[in-house]
Amino acid sequence: MDINLHQRTFHIQNKHLLTLKDYTPSEIFEILYMARDLKKSLKAGEFRTDLKGKTLAMIFAKSSTRTRVSFEMGIRQLGGEGLFLSSNDIQLGRGETIHDTVKVLERMSISGIMIRTFKQSDVEDLAKYGTIPIINGLTDLCHPCQVLADLLTIWERKRDLQGRKLVFFGDGNNMANSLMVGCAKCGMEVVVACPEGYEPDQGFLEHAQKYGPVSVSHDPKAAAKGADVLYTDVFFSMGQKPDPRKFEEMMRFQVNDELMALAKPDAMFLHCLPAHRGEEVTASVIDSPASFVFDEAENRLHAQKAVMYFLMK
Ligand code: CP
Ligand code: NVA
Repeated sequence: MDINLHQRTFHIQNKHLLTLKDYTPSEIFEILYMARDLKKSLKAGEFRTDLKGKTLAMIFAKSSTRTRVSFEMGIRQLGGEGLFLSSNDIQLGRGETIHDTVKVLERMSISGIMIRTFKQSDVEDLAKYGTIPIINGLTDLCHPCQVLADLLTIWERKRDLQGRKLVFFGDGNNMANSLMVGCAKCGMEVVVACPEGYEPDQGFLEHAQKYGPVSVSHDPKAAAKGADVLYTDVFFSMGQKPDPRKFEEMMRFQVNDELMALAKPDAMFLHCLPAHRGEEVTASVIDSPASFVFDEAENRLHAQKAVMYFLMK
């Protein structure tokens, strides 16, 4: 499970990216290596046509900056096209079924669908009823594309993944779920440090634990000790109502200088963004040299180009 010993196959079995639970460690490594190649190729100014003639429909039922721009730019850079569909503007938002939506899109030569929505079952249903690749661009349950970018960022900075310790602080949300699975499959240790009652999904936790040491802690300071990566996310995910009690409980898990000082001296800070300075992270941490949040955001582009390359080529 050491990424640096991985023998490339230039192939993945999966037809979709619904959750990282469906991916083997080897498939995750294939994506990370391809992302690294595509990043180099872009920086070298190469003109690519891997997805020429392909169109990705991008359905958004929630807001987005990074996901939207990275998919749109990513498919363009591979010679294809992106079609932005806000679910408010298409009939899906007025009750047309997932079944009918995917049937119609594929009749119109759409080659793949990226969807950001609430229910994981909607993403799974697109894959069930359609014949084209489906990519999960975030649901309430998970955010696999973000974690592929996160793993690429850690690999680039640390030069390895195996044995590294990542601690996620805050709400046991979609990010926590995907990080547990993605990092464990790459040989990392994961601790989710959250208030009681805000634990990550049990199914994701148990799945991740089959691959490596993954645990939940209610003690942020104990969790931070010896960490290579400190990670956090908003207290209130899209679709959740702000709640003063939850806010107060979450503040105990804020990533600040005190917590950073407990980690390894060369520990890095990551955040999927958007961030709220003064809430889940202090400005002194997110704006410090230990923070790689913009590398992480950039890597969304490269990681998702690799995903589209494998699923849509
Ligand atoms: N991290 C992330 O998915 O950002 P957006 O919500 O801007 O897409
Ligand atoms: N947990 C956050 C992630 C945003 C990228 C949300 O779902 O809003």
